[in-house]
Amino acid sequence: MRYAIISDLHGNRQALKAVLTDIRGIGVDQLICLGDCVGYGPRPAEVLELAYAHVHYFILGNHDAVIADRLNPDCFGENARKVIDWTRERLDAKSSQFFARMPLVLCGDGFACAHAQFANPGGFGYLFEAAAAAPSFDAFVEQFLFVGHSHVPGLFVLGGSGVPHWLEPLDFSREEGKRYLINVGSVGQPRDRDLRASYVIFDREQGDVFFRKVPFDIDGYRDDLRRSGLPRTSSCFLDLDERLRPRPLREMVDFRPARRSEFVRRERDVRSLESSLRQLKKSNRRLLVLAVCAFLISSAAVAWALARGGRSEPAAELDSSWTVAALQELVEPVLARVGDELVGMPAVDDFEAGELRPIDEDNRLLHWAFTLGDPESQRVAVERGEDGRAHFVVASRNPSQKIRIVSSAVELGREQRAQVRATFHNCAVESGFAELYSEYTAADGTVRRLNASMVDNLADLGRWSPRSATSEGLREDGGRLRYVLEFQFQGEARVRDCALVLR
Ligand SMILES: [Fe+2]
Repeated sequence: MRYAIISDLHGNRQALKAVLTDIRGIGVDQLICLGDCVGYGPRPAEVLELAYAHVHYFILGNHDAVIADRLNPDCFGENARKVIDWTRERLDAKSSQFFARMPLVLCGDGFACAHAQFANPGGFGYLFEAAAAAPSFDAFVEQFLFVGHSHVPGLFVLGGSGVPHWLEPLDFSREEGKRYLINVGSVGQPRDRDLRASYVIFDREQGDVFFRKVPFDIDGYRDDLRRSGLPRTSSCFLDLDERLRPRPLREMVDFRPARRSEFVRRERDVRSLESSLRQLKKSNRRLLVLAVCAFLISSAAVAWALARGGRSEPAAELDSSWTVAALQELVEPVLARVGDELVGMPAVDDFEAGELRPIDEDNRLLHWAFTLGDPESQRVAVERGEDGRAHFVVASRNPSQKIRIVSSAVELGREQRAQVRATFHNCAVESGFAELYSEYTAADGTVRRLNASMVDNLADLGRWSPRSATSEGLREDGGRLRYVLEFQFQGEARVRDCALVLR
């Protein structure tokens, strides 16, 4: 039995039509929808009708639940609530009766489906970090668990260690002793910096899972949205630059046949390679001897100076300050090992526990800088966490202006990958969004965004822990990477564990 598993259609008829066409081309036995047929998008009735005609099994999503009065709309932010009210007016009573009957969990042979986490499916908790996935694995015994809700495709794998870990979306086959919690992504509101609709094909007998990406008519969706009168902010993916759309695989592998001159031919070539290696080793030995001599000479000079009773000058204090105007750059993380923090939260030992210090353009914090779109009504402060490291406290009374937290730039070696991460605590956010990404500046000065994560309604979240790695190594030498966390919101939030990590 082959299943197509879709989720989070969100009133986007263009995306659903494209996905249904793709599914038809592949050929499946049954179609399962993990919820959120409506909300955000401009065509809720058409999408519900289309889904009803093709989907075999439905599960309730949080937006559907509000329409059926099974969830209090107060759990949404103000903007999302307005869109839900708008959606409700465009659906008839049968629609809400349909949502009223939908189950929260569906169990098949060796697999189970829910909209969000399994431990409390009616709570619609988000699964962003590995620790949050553990209760879902505990709540059900099936080897495959499928969810949507976060709009970010990928999977958590639970193996012999007993600790789930996150993997980017990659097709895979079942392995004995492992369990999988698979996020199928979103059809109608992608939030993984990819403008295509996501869904999954699941072959139950073979235990194969395939992640699918399908382009859809974005201009048509824009037209629908404009005509509906819904705010554009209800569809954040439209802000994504289409030029950032991932290149086709055939371009990413960068295949070309080797030229004849690149072949290692005949024994003569092998011999010449061996002789070059011998010469390299010899010159390395010479360098080592020179370094030892230099060390001995400098030690003798210091001993002589001390014997004369002179005092050497203290080394100039390292300037470890980084300002908005002049963020110095860290170089040569090529020497770092995988897992090392290239930039992290500095220790703030001089802070009292719980002490809060404001940061503005005159204040400094190691490796970090801040820009406020509206300094009158926005601020960033630093407090000392229990681990002795800095935390950011970000507050804004102006949701139309951005707050940016950026790190100093690091230089990555060819083919090296990096991960950006943060842990975000919602303290008192009324509305707005946040985005985490790394900004890559190539040697020729061109700038592009990599490994971005976005949450479009901070008010919906108690906690957000994005961890996002570049999907491929950097191809050029001399490029630099900078960590960027952007907020545009109203309220106050705390962020800790901001780091750029070598992968
Ligand atoms: Fe959703």
